[in-house]
Amino acid sequence: LSTASHSPLRALAASAPGKLILAGEHAAVYGRPALVAAVDARLVVEGGERAERGIDIDLSDLGLRETTSGAALREYAARAQERWRAFHDDPTPQRFRELRGDDPAHLVKVALGETLLRHGGAIEPAWAFRVVSKLPVGSGMGSSAAAAAALTAAAMRLLGRPADLDEVETLVRETERRQHGSPSGVDGAVVLRGGVQWVERAAEGALRLEALPSPLPLLEEIRVLDTGSPGQSTGEVVTAVRQLRAADPARFEELLDRLEQATRRVRDALVASAASVASAELGAREGAALADAIHDAQRGLEALGVVPPEVRALVRRIEGRGGAAKVSGAGALHGPGAGCLVVYHPHPASLFVGGLIRPESLLPVRLGAPGLRVEERA
Ligand code: PMV
Repeated sequence: LSTASHSPLRALAASAPGKLILAGEHAAVYGRPALVAAVDARLVVEGGERAERGIDIDLSDLGLRETTSGAALREYAARAQERWRAFHDDPTPQRFRELRGDDPAHLVKVALGETLLRHGGAIEPAWAFRVVSKLPVGSGMGSSAAAAAALTAAAMRLLGRPADLDEVETLVRETERRQHGSPSGVDGAVVLRGGVQWVERAAEGALRLEALPSPLPLLEEIRVLDTGSPGQSTGEVVTAVRQLRAADPARFEELLDRLEQATRRVRDALVASAASVASAELGAREGAALADAIHDAQRGLEALGVVPPEVRALVRRIEGRGGAAKVSGAGALHGPGAGCLVVYHPHPASLFVGGLIRPESLLPVRLGAPGLRVEERA
C-alpha cells in the first residue's frame, strides 16, 4: 500500500473468522434454526488509500491481482443484482450459473460494489486491498462470508463510516445472495459476531442470534475432519435441495422437522455440558446425547441427498467405532469430498486405529472465536 510523506494515507486491517455449522444446515434456508460456531482461522483484508484513483485488488491466495475502478465495481454489482432477480424468480441451476458467471473475483467485486452503491455516493476511490485467508476455500468454513464481511467493513471505514455490525450484515447478506443464490444468512451473521450462536429466523425474516454460554466442555471434544472440497458449490447444492422440496413438499417438511429436532438436541447437549463439569458421570450422559443428535442430523442430511456415498461410508465406519459424525455445511451431490465433518467420539484416539482417520485430516481449529475486527493502521 502506497503512502505519501506529506499526508499519510489511511490504512487498516479488517478480519473475520471462518465458521462451522454444527447443526441445522439446509433447514436454515427454510427458516429453521441453526447452531453455528465461529472458528479461529481468520480471513484478513488489508485495505488502504493509494496515491492514484482506482481500486487495486490483490487476491494473494488465488494468485490474482487486478486494478479496476469504483464505477466498474458499481456496474458489476448492479448487473449482478439483475441476474440475482432473474434467479430469484426462476431458481434453476442454469440461472444460478448465469448469476455467478466465471469471474474468480466475483464475490470481492460484488462486496465492494454493493458497499459503494449503498454508501459511496458518486466518489471514485483510490484504494488498495489485499486479501489473505487461512480458511480453506469451498470446505464450508465460511470463506465467502468472512471475505464479504471483512471487505465490506474495510470499505465502509475507508468511506469514513463506522462499520456498524447491522449495516455490514445487510450488505454481506446481499453479497452472499450473489454468491450462493438463496443463502439463509447464518454465515454472515455469525462471522460478524463470533462465538457459538443459536440462529433463528424472526418474524420479518430477520435473524435473531443467541450466543451460547462459554466455556462448553463438550464443544472442546468436537473434532473437524476435512473430507476434501465438495465438487459442487453451496448454491448448486442448495438449488438441488430446493428441487427435492418442489417434488414432494410434505415429505420435505417432515425432513425439516427431523433436522430441527436434531439441531435442538445438539444445542441442549452442549449447553448441558456447561453444568456437568463437576461430574464425570453426567459428562458421559451429555456426550451420549450429543452423539445421538449428530447421528440423527446426519441421517436427515443423507435423506436430503447431500452426502455422497464415499462420505456416508466413512461416517458408518466412525459410527462402527462408537463415534458419530455429520456433514457440516452444504455437503455435496457427488463425491468424493463433501467439505467438513463434525466428529464426536468419547475417546477420539480410537478413531486413528488402523488408519480409519489420519490425524492430519483433522483441522486444527478451535470453535467459538471472536467476530469481526477492524484496526486502523495509520
Ligand atoms: O457451505 P456452507 O458451509 O457455507 O453452508 C451452507 C449452509 C446451507 O444451510 C446449506 C446454506 C445456507 O445458506 O445456510
